[in-house]
Amino acid sequence: MGKALEGVRILDMTHVQSGPTCTQLLAWFGADVIKVERPGSGDATRGQLRDVPDADSLYFTMLNHNKRSVTLNTKTESGKQIFAKLIEECDVLVENFAPGAIDRMGFPWEKIQEINPRMIYASIKGFGPGPYEDCKVYENIAQSTGGSASTTGFLDGPPTVTGAQIGDSGTGLHLAFGIVTALFHREQSGKGQRVEVAMQDAVLNLCRVKLRDQQRLEHGPLTEYSQFGQGIEFGEATPRAGNDSGGGQPGWILKCKGWETDPNAYVYFITQAAVWGNICDLIGKPEWKEDPDYATPNARLDKIPQIFDTIEEWTKTLGKFEVMAQANPLNIPCGPILSMKELSEEPSLRATGTVVEVDHPTRGKYLTVGNPVKLSESPSDVVRSPLLGEHTDEILKSVIGYGDEEIAAARDEGAI
Ligand code: COA
Repeated sequence: MGKALEGVRILDMTHVQSGPTCTQLLAWFGADVIKVERPGSGDATRGQLRDVPDADSLYFTMLNHNKRSVTLNTKTESGKQIFAKLIEECDVLVENFAPGAIDRMGFPWEKIQEINPRMIYASIKGFGPGPYEDCKVYENIAQSTGGSASTTGFLDGPPTVTGAQIGDSGTGLHLAFGIVTALFHREQSGKGQRVEVAMQDAVLNLCRVKLRDQQRLEHGPLTEYSQFGQGIEFGEATPRAGNDSGGGQPGWILKCKGWETDPNAYVYFITQAAVWGNICDLIGKPEWKEDPDYATPNARLDKIPQIFDTIEEWTKTLGKFEVMAQANPLNIPCGPILSMKELSEEPSLRATGTVVEVDHPTRGKYLTVGNPVKLSESPSDVVRSPLLGEHTDEILKSVIGYGDEEIAAARDEGAI
């Protein structure tokens, strides 16, 4: 069985997290991803948050699997020549430099199109056109400017960023989707095109339920927010909603046995209307089934915090997995709060390739995430990340047809 993107060649000018997430996804699906890095230093993340001295950091390795690394200084003369030849031979150029950096290298979109009209040129920037288009952006700035931070956290606390890297990895995912769409379009048109995703836009796309709530606010209070049950008035903007479910089925995080010492002894519990009767029986409140104050979702709206307090009295008597074991057979949706330690040790995630152990020549064995998207006909595996410049000679020879002398000359000039 072949890999889905075999035959697609990506000129990967990405660095840090957002862009590399995108090109790693494409590489997992079989694209030949050629990561271009500055000679000597490479992607800054190679040396950031190091846990093993002199070895590529986990930050770098976990974002750059299945790629080949070529060193190239695109600001030297022969570096520019090599870069132009790579543009000629590749299908997609991906970059996430600060605005204007590729232009400053001497390769504006018009020139790229001239060199290769089939080229798809994909970029991540912090913002789209507008007042902030020239600004640099990192993960938490995107979370802050895309609507995530203002709607995350507790009502009486400050805006909060989430652990999920929705600004970086979230934008990378969007860009990968844009690239594959443009490749599909090229099949019919024969032409490349520009693909752009702004981190602010990607985060807002992921926060759309909060934009939904912003508009609902104009028509009255958000009755499914616990704030409503607590009698706290709503302001002008979508508020922070703690652990409210965000959907039509109320939910909350509840303490389980051992919560006093175990920071993750909690369960997310959803009072889905369809199984309300089962919930009442399970927590020892069968009388709520017929009580008009509790029997319907509408009657319960102003009592949500109090209902969860009662359910918590029950969950506190059990471990989080025991809650699951009792609730699941009754079709009650709930999920244990799993720590990174538990996830890294979970056998089923290893079995599906969602968590993978990789061996690396300088840092040894480590765990990483594998491709979360499973295709039935196109397998995906995880190959260790490349060392800096590991494939420079190989790529210059096989992709742009350079001989030993040209490679030596480029090396003498400091171009590779
Ligand atoms: N050869 C020669 N020069 C190279 C090069 C290479 N192979 N690779 C990078 N450079 C140069 C760039 O051309 C740029 O030079 P210039 O400023 O003279 O034009 C310079 O290196 C630095 O690039 P820059 O993108 O400004 O890096 P930074 O470390 O200062 O900023 C970010 C990092 C992430 C803030 C910035 O790249 C950015 O805002 N990117 C877009 C948003 C984004 O993706 N953010 C999330 C990152 S996880």
